[in-house]
Amino acid sequence: MWAISVITIMCLSLAIGKYCERLYSLYESFGCKPYDSYENVPTKYDCTVSSYKTEYVEGMCYFNGTFYSYGEMLQQRYPRTAFQDVCDYFCAVSVDTGLGPYFEYDNCVNNESSDVSGNECVHDVLSNMDLFSHDWAPVFFPGDKCPFFWIADEPSNLISDDCSENPKTCCKYLNYTMKTDRKFQPTNSVTCECTCPPIIECLRN
Ligand SMILES: *[C@@H]1O[C@H](CO)[C@@H](O)[C@H](O)[C@H]1NC(C)=O
Ligand SMILES: *[C@@H]1O[C@H](CO)[C@@H](O)[C@H](O)[C@H]1NC(C)=O
Ligand SMILES: *[C@@H]1O[C@H](CO)[C@@H](O)[C@H](O)[C@H]1NC(C)=O
Repeated sequence: MWAISVITIMCLSLAIGKYCERLYSLYESFGCKPYDSYENVPTKYDCTVSSYKTEYVEGMCYFNGTFYSYGEMLQQRYPRTAFQDVCDYFCAVSVDTGLGPYFEYDNCVNNESSDVSGNECVHDVLSNMDLFSHDWAPVFFPGDKCPFFWIADEPSNLISDDCSENPKTCCKYLNYTMKTDRKFQPTNSVTCECTCPPIIECLRN
């Protein structure tokens, strides 16, 4: 039994590795649903069903079934995974990007044992829900399950693939559509690839 489980897990991780391994936690955290799979392992997700897309409105923050107005603080503290902190989160408008609303963190305390079960990238859901909604791309450091930052640089030679036949099989980056295996470099230090639509997977070199 034990051996079979180990083999199953190994096969599963090899298969995921080829497609959605790096984006898995992010898709799960945003409530995207598997759209296509190969041998029961997701190869594409559908994010149009994510409540962070369907409930996205300009004037209010949305989180986990509830709307919040600007300045309002979440009752519960949530982790900021990359820094192993736990923080308060306030509904805010973005000054930097002109997007928003999103939740801004404050009063962080280091807590390496904080529990993120089931929602590993909750920090991205809170702090980057606007970037997710506007199809920016998450940038990962190799080995991390959640992105370190999100990017929206447009190299001058960037063009869309024709995805009119079935847009759900393509990645979306800003207003561009790209087929799987398409690669591009938004900046010299970041390489992006459409591995597991619709979110583009980017790596910091
Ligand atoms: C979202 O809300 C449900 C119940 O309303 C709760 O069980 C769950 O823990 C909440 N998730 C987060 C990340 O707070
Ligand atoms: C750290 O997280 C654990 C688990 O969520 C919690 O029980 C503990 O109270 C937290 N410690 C601090 C200092 O917030
Ligand atoms: C995307 O297209 C919309 C509508 O055509 C436009 O308003 C918006 O500025 C575009 N965004 C980017 C990042 O190009």
